[in-house]
Amino acid sequence: MTVHHQSHCKINLLLNILRKREDGFHELETVMAPVACFDELEFSKSHAGIRIIGNHPELNDDPQNLIRRAAQAFFAETRIEPEVHIRHEKRLPMAAGLGGGSSNAAHTLRGLNELFDEPLASDDLHRLAAQLGSDINFFLQDGPAMATGRGEQVESLEPFPALKDAGLLLIKPGFGVSTPWAFKNLARYPKALEGTPGRAKLLVELLNGSDVGSATAEFYNSLEASVLPKHPLLKIYQDFLNEHGAIVSLMSGSGSTTFAVTGSEVDAKELGQAFVARFGNHCWTSATRLQG
Ligand code: C5P
Repeated sequence: MTVHHQSHCKINLLLNILRKREDGFHELETVMAPVACFDELEFSKSHAGIRIIGNHPELNDDPQNLIRRAAQAFFAETRIEPEVHIRHEKRLPMAAGLGGGSSNAAHTLRGLNELFDEPLASDDLHRLAAQLGSDINFFLQDGPAMATGRGEQVESLEPFPALKDAGLLLIKPGFGVSTPWAFKNLARYPKALEGTPGRAKLLVELLNGSDVGSATAEFYNSLEASVLPKHPLLKIYQDFLNEHGAIVSLMSGSGSTTFAVTGSEVDAKELGQAFVARFGNHCWTSATRLQG
C-alpha cells in the first residue's frame, strides 16, 4: 500500500506580532491561506528504518529534515517499528516563508497515520505538530485559518469569498531568510514588535465580505519591519508589482517570498511575465491561486 500526499504551501495574509514571550517565542495573530503549489510525498512500508529518497539528496539523511523528525515523532508516539520508505519530490523553495518544511512535517504525520491505520487521534497529531514547530498545526487541516499563540493554535475557516476569483503570484528570490533571525532582529523595531491585537479578526470579517479592496487594505506583516531594511530588493519588487496591476503585495511569513494578489489567475500570469521582463528570470516564480 502506498499513501500519496500533495504537501501544499501557505501565505500569511496578516502576521501581526503582539509581543516577545518569556520562552523566547513571539505571541502573534495570523491569517493564513493555503496555496495550490505542492511538494509530492509518498509513503510505503519497507524494512529499512526511515528511508527518505528525494530530488534534493542533501535532505535525505539530514537529521534536521522535518520529514524525518515528524516520522521519528510518529513512530515514538505510536511505538510502531519505524519501517517506512518516503519519496519526496521537492518543488517548493526553502527559507521562503511559504511553510514548505512545516507542510512536509504535517503531511508526514497525516500520511503515516493513514498508512498505519490511524493509530493517532486528531489531538495527538496536533500535540506532535506543536512540538515540531509553530506552523505545522495549520497544515493538519486544508483550508484557510486564523492562528494565535506562537502560531500553533489554529482555528479553521471557510474559504474567503473576497478572494474567490483572485490570482496569486509568488516570487522567491535567490536568497532565503532565516526565521529565527527575522524574529530576533525585530527587537530593533519596537513598534512592529508590539502590534495591536484584533487585526486578524477584523481581516477575517472583511475577507468574508465581497470587497477584495477593503480586505486587502488590511493585509499586514510585522516581519517586514525586520526583513525589508536588510533586503531592500523585496521592497523594489513590491513597488513594481503594485505599479503593474497587483491589488496588494506583501512578504509572506519571514520571507523571502513576496506575493501579489491579482484579479484572476490570468492576471497573475501576465504580472509574472512583466516581472521577468523587468528583473530577469533568476527568481522562482509561480502564478497560481489560493486552494479551496
Ligand atoms: O516554531 P518554528 O520552528 O517554526 O520557529 C522557528 C524560530 O522562529 C523559533 O525558534 C523562534 O526563534 C522563531 N519564532 C518566534 N515566535 C514564533 C514563531 C517562531 O520567535 N511565534
